[in-house]
Amino acid sequence: MKLEHLEQARSEISARRNRAKTENDRRFEEINTLIPEIAEINRQLFQTSRNLMQIIRNGENTADRVEALKRQNQQAQIMVRKLLIANGYPEDYLNIAYTCPKCSDTGYSGGTYCSCLTALAAKIAASELNRNAQVNLCSFKSFDLSYYYGRKTENGTDCYKAMEMIFEFCKSYAASFSKESPSILMFGKTGLGKTHLSLSIASAVLEKGFSVLYDSVINFLRQVENEHFGRDTSGNDTLSLLLECDLLILDDLGTEFDTPFYQSMIYNIINTRINRCLPTIISTNMDWSGISHKYEERITSRIFATYVNHHFVGYDVRILKAQQKAARR
Ligand SMILES: Nc1ncnc2c1ncn2[C@@H]1O[C@H](COP(=O)(O)OP(=O)(O)OP(=O)(O)O)[C@@H](O)[C@H]1O
Ligand SMILES: [Mg+2]
Ligand SMILES: [Zn+2]
Repeated sequence: MKLEHLEQARSEISARRNRAKTENDRRFEEINTLIPEIAEINRQLFQTSRNLMQIIRNGENTADRVEALKRQNQQAQIMVRKLLIANGYPEDYLNIAYTCPKCSDTGYSGGTYCSCLTALAAKIAASELNRNAQVNLCSFKSFDLSYYYGRKTENGTDCYKAMEMIFEFCKSYAASFSKESPSILMFGKTGLGKTHLSLSIASAVLEKGFSVLYDSVINFLRQVENEHFGRDTSGNDTLSLLLECDLLILDDLGTEFDTPFYQSMIYNIINTRINRCLPTIISTNMDWSGISHKYEERITSRIFATYVNHHFVGYDVRILKAQQKAARR
């Protein structure tokens, strides 16, 4: 975790806390003017707590008076809740509504960082990594099924039908995404929309507030390698982000160099995420036989056993688009 991202997350969480308190003050004022009975109870409660402080400050041996005041306080709160409901408000309307009830938006719980703080810091780090990739360029809206229309594969598969199914799968995958969603392997020849659809999923899932990392396998591995061998001293820990983000998208598997370091990193990333039940989307030009030739069995068997496979078919859309453009001239 980089300090800078932790600092940004901390300041955002403290802003949340201030917003929650400001909203709570506003609600108190609203209720005090609208429901005078509650205003009166609040006035009495305020008096009660002042008395309590006085008793404690005087150091008197007043355990039973403290007890009595506490009981009075509890009864008053029950009354307030009843009055709120009777006036059409939810009973917890005057409780401070923190974004994270676990740490009351302080960022700390149980003597350590709260998970809301570390999750936000990871999200900030991820958005920085994604900034260079074109995550916002591709969307489901700009995906056009007509490019596959009237085409058949060598085996006679209808490309339109096959791609329509993949398109629908990807849309509902993004719409119902959770950390329990399955991993996906997208394979097929060049220019068929693998990157387009995985980026569309990335932006939809990012919009839902999950942490998503997208880049080509080469770029990720180079970054991890530079950090691992001390060539990058920025303090970034890309490997941790790859292992922990809610959704990881590894584009162009198979275009990286064949080094033992890369093989072991790919195995580590795929294996760790499977063990943590975190979804990964891999896209590649290789077919099954290509994948099983290039990677060790311990990698391929894990992908084979746990990923949902989608075989992209059709004619290179890059070429089709270029032809359309030329025809318009
Ligand atoms: N169905 C489609 N509708 C609109 N644009 C598409 C479609 N499929 C692909 N494209 C566009 O065509 C180009 C190539 O597609 P994309 O990069 O997604 O292919 P790919 O399958 O990832 O290819 P590669 O294997 O070479 O990485 C991109 O600009 C993409 O936006
Ligand atoms: Mg691609
Ligand atoms: Zn928290």
